[in-house]
Parts: sequence; structure tokens; C-alpha cells
Amino acid sequence: MDIRRLTDRLGGLAFGGDYNPEQWDAEVWKEDDELMHRARVNLATVGVFSWALLEPEEGRYDFDWLDAHLDRLHAAGVAVDLATPTASPPPWFTLAHPDALPVGPDGTRLTHGSRDTYCLTAPAYRRAARRVAAALAERYGDHPALALWHVHNEYVTLCWCDHTAAAFRVWLRARHGTLEALNEAWATAFWSQRYTSWEQILPPRQSQWHRNPGQSLDYSRFWSDETLAAYREQRDAIRAHSDRPVTTNLMLPGYQNLDLWAFGREVDVVCVNHYPDAPGVDAAAHAAFDADRARSIAGGAPWLLMESGTNTVYAGGRVLAKEPGDILRHSLAHVARGSEGTLFFQWRQSRAGAEQWHSSMVPHAGPDSRTFREVTAAGEAVARLGELAGSTVRAEVAVLHDSDAWWAMKVDGLPSPDLEYVPALRRAHRALWDAGLTVDFAHPEHDLGRYRVVLAPALFLLTDAGAENLRRYVADGGTLLVQHFSGVVDERLHARLGGYPAAPLREALGVRVEEHRPLRQGERITLSDGSTATAWSESLRTEGAETLAAYTHGMLDGGPALTRHDFGGGHGWYLSTRLDDSGYAALVGRLLREAGVTPDLPDLPAGVEAVTRHAPDGRSWHLLLNHRSEAVPLPRPSHDLLTDGPLAALPPGGCAVLRT
Ligand code: GLA
Repeated sequence: MDIRRLTDRLGGLAFGGDYNPEQWDAEVWKEDDELMHRARVNLATVGVFSWALLEPEEGRYDFDWLDAHLDRLHAAGVAVDLATPTASPPPWFTLAHPDALPVGPDGTRLTHGSRDTYCLTAPAYRRAARRVAAALAERYGDHPALALWHVHNEYVTLCWCDHTAAAFRVWLRARHGTLEALNEAWATAFWSQRYTSWEQILPPRQSQWHRNPGQSLDYSRFWSDETLAAYREQRDAIRAHSDRPVTTNLMLPGYQNLDLWAFGREVDVVCVNHYPDAPGVDAAAHAAFDADRARSIAGGAPWLLMESGTNTVYAGGRVLAKEPGDILRHSLAHVARGSEGTLFFQWRQSRAGAEQWHSSMVPHAGPDSRTFREVTAAGEAVARLGELAGSTVRAEVAVLHDSDAWWAMKVDGLPSPDLEYVPALRRAHRALWDAGLTVDFAHPEHDLGRYRVVLAPALFLLTDAGAENLRRYVADGGTLLVQHFSGVVDERLHARLGGYPAAPLREALGVRVEEHRPLRQGERITLSDGSTATAWSESLRTEGAETLAAYTHGMLDGGPALTRHDFGGGHGWYLSTRLDDSGYAALVGRLLREAGVTPDLPDLPAGVEAVTRHAPDGRSWHLLLNHRSEAVPLPRPSHDLLTDGPLAALPPGGCAVLRT
């Protein structure tokens, strides 16, 4: 396990962040060494945006400055996560290769002057990326400071240029084989869209009205595969010169158009970035959501939080300050869910430039600041948790995630703007998190046998194999909740005929959906059990299921809204509308009760988060985060690693890591 090599190298969990010393001078570097020591920094990500310095002109490298920083960091006891700089090509590159600048769906070609101004499919860009990755690997492949390779930075840029069109056609030929098959898949018989040669096919550029949905979905799949290919090229160029683990930093959907399951299989260590998007307890829920996804992508193995916002929360276009104690609480929220440490963006707040207002470990005010004091406290805390390295987290409940289903919900022409993918996953996760549970994410075709409860909040697209897998899961004793607008189309976006959802799943749920009835903007309906709902309703009939709540409005009056079916050894639940939060929480609570799922530490009050990490040798630790403003007595006093002593109560807002 490559993450184990990293923690062995570090002698414990990782603590640190992105380090961009090229913004500063020798005096500051000296202070950096001293402050990193104070904050217990043991890992720094270097070189993410250094292309212009590393290769000032095509093919001429200047490594002296980087040699000096790597040697200095090594002398200071800080290991290096060395990045390839390919997320930010320098101006000379784009002037020499204007065809490598990205083009938007409307045909506008972007210019340099920001970052991420590249097209992944441009041959000149790919050549340059391989070249600079190989040059770095040749020079630093066995540098004693080097602990990890960091390819690129958050692969994010999409493109619709002619290079992309050519690459898309190659991908389409491999997927569909013949033009007939493509025409059939994309349903080009409608609107006179039939293709008679491959050259006629374009990426889904801006058009007069709805773009072809099959074309849009295939473009998303293609772009993810293309990104993976670009990653692999750099990874393999590095591996030719270095035996250190290689990774890239993921930003979970919807920022990147990537199939995260596929990336999880290709990186040596799953690394993710997390930027909270709400203050208070919502930030903790968001951290748990991203951390649970990261662990799931890693197949349950330990992973690493590669970047996080040090002391700020991005909410509604505003950069809000974190509450006192959040730096540690947020860090431990990730560690609790399997992260082998915590890293921030960035070490020292930029004095000027594009991210000058992004909070950092050392703020503009310097070390005499609340931020640096809290960073130092977090560093000390993480340093005490070395014995957790290699331990893992177990979950009895899962939420289904499939990139195809996500991309399918982004195509033009769906019946309501209220249909949503990522928010639906977050609501499902939040209901389980509020119930005190640790949650896995799983693909609909994964083996789900280890989960007592599975939620499928947004599976618009579901393959035959997925539908059969879910049927079998219920038959074998599982409890499955499927939510509205699921199992509606297959992998080509062709509607399931004869009633939704896909036939094998219908069998497990004991319902047949006849028609969708989207609600009007702002419309709120009340169901027969008093719960309220918005956005969506469906006309369905039961085929063996029992109706637990019925519609009470309009032409659906009396029709089933929420159903439950005893099928084989398990239970298939179907919710055909979007319940408001309290009704949804009550429903999820009922499923959990009936399936006998309880939190790891059931006696804790609401607002105290508890996750258990298990070592292969049987040791385990409870990580507790108190989101309440009063102290919470613990069921029994235990040894706390953070204070290295017995702990009888969690302080207000406090954290603990208890040996069990
Ligand atoms: C992302 C990037 C970083 C930085 C941070 C903060 O995660 O990877 O380079 O821009 O966001 O904005």
C-alpha cells in the first residue's frame, strides 16, 4: 500500500500544505523553516505553479532554485510532495502553441493570464507535459526529500476545439464501433441529426437549442477518459525515473468532469482537496461528505487530504472566517474518515497575485495571529496521532454514486430544473451523518452485500447490470431506498419502456411508475402522513408494495408516494417525490431502525460526531468532534491521544481521539 510508504517515510500522519517559496525571498525562507518546525509541518507540496520558472523557454530548464528549496526543506526535516507544473503553462508556451489554448462550447478561445489555460487534447500540450514531468523525475526521482509525486493540479479545464473533435471521434469509434451504432445510440433519427461520416461529428458545441443528449453524455465520458490518459502519461514518464508513489489531487464532483472510481484505480494514493462551502455545523457535514467519498474512491484504504481552506469557508461568493477551533475540528473530520493527515492551501498567504485573499497557514499578519496559533495546535494534535497510520474505517450504510448518472443529469432537455445530482447525494449523506453514521459511497454495480442500508438518491441512468445488482441486493436481505426519477434510462440514455424504473429494480421495489409529474416552481405538496415535499411527483401504482404515504393533491390524489416492498430477504423502498428535510430525516431514521443500524457510540448526544478507525491488529480509536457549545460527558473515561491522558468529558467545541 503506497500510502503506508508515505506515512512510514513521515514517521506518522502528514501535516503541511502547498508551499510556493518562489513568491518570497531568502529572509522569509529562513522564517519558513523556523515556523514549519514550530507547526510540526512534515510534508510540503512544491512546484504546483512553477512551470515558467522551471522552463523559462522551450526545452531549457532551470533547476537551481528548486534544488536549493528541496535541499533546504530536507535539511529542515520536511518531506516534499513534488508537483508537475502542467496546470499552468507559461505565456511563452501559449504564444508558441496557440492551438493548445482551450476553446469554450461557444467557440471562444481563451487566452493566458490566469491558470489552467491548456487543452488536454492538443498534441503540443501533451508533449510539453510529458517532457517537463520526465525532466523533473530525472532530476529529483531519488532526491532524499521526495516522498510523493503530485501530477498536475485538479484537472479541470474542458475544451471543444478541433483537436478535441478529432480525439472525440477516435474515442467514439472505439466505443460504438460503427456509425450505425452511434446513430442508434444518439437517436439521430430525430431532428435529422443522422451522421454519414465520422468527420461530421463534433463535441457538443453551443447550438441553436437542445444539444443531443447522447452526444453530451459521451463527451463527458470521453473527457474523463482523456484526462485519465493524460494523467497516466505523466505518471509513466515519472515512473521511468522514480519509485516514489504518484498521485494527483482530486476535487470531488461537480468541480471536475472525472469518473472518480476510475481515477481511484490509477493513483498510488487517493488525494483530494476540500474547501468548505458553509459555516458552522454545515461545514462539518460537508467535510464528512467529501472525506467519505475520498475513502470510498480509495476502496476503503487510507487516503490523504491534500489541500483544504486553512481558516476560511467559501459561502455564497463570500470568504467567511472559520470559527475558533474549526481548523482542528475540520482536520480531524478528515482524519477520522481515513485521511492519513491534513494539508492546507497554502503555507504562507500570498502578498499579491491572484490568490492573495485565500487564507493560509501563515496569514498576512504573520505568526502572531489566531490562524497560526490554531495551525500550530492542529500540527501538534496530528503529530500525536501517528499510531493511527494504516487503520481503516467501516461503514454499514452506503449512498450510490455513478458518474454516468451524474453526467446524464446534466444533459439538455430534462423535464425540470429541480432535478439535481450532487445536492441529492449530499442530502442523503447528511441524513445519515445527522443520524451519527459513517457512510460509504458505492457504485450501483459494486458488491453491496456488506451494507445493511443503501440509499439511491439520484440514479436517473441505471444499466441493466446495475438494476439486477440492486434487485439481488434486496433479495439477499438488504434495505434499499430508491428515490424519484431513478432507473429511468439505460447507459445510452434510452428510456426504459413499459414503466420505470428498469424492470429488475421494479421487481424489488414492487412499483411501476407510469408518468412523471414535475411540480411547479415553489409548489409544496403535503402527503397523507403529513410530510411535505417539493419539486417532483409521479404517477405510480404498486405491484406488491405497501403504500406508506399517498399524494393528496390534484390528479395524483390517493396515489402512492412512498412505498415499501418485502422482497426476498430484504426491503425495497421507493420515494417518488422530494421530501422536505425533516420528513426525509424521519424516513431515513425509520429505515435505519428497521434495519437495526446504530452509531458506533450510540449514547452520544446529537451534535457530537464519532467515527472509529480500526487497525488490522485489532486496535481501534474513536475520534470524537463536539459541535456543541457545552461539555459532553463521555460514557466511560478513556485515554485521549490529543491530551495524552484520561478524558471524562469532551470540552465545548473540543475533539478527542480515544483508544478503545
Ligand atoms: C484549489 C487549487 C489551489 C488553490 C486552492 C484555493 O484547490 O488546487 O491551487 O487555488 O484551490 O483557491
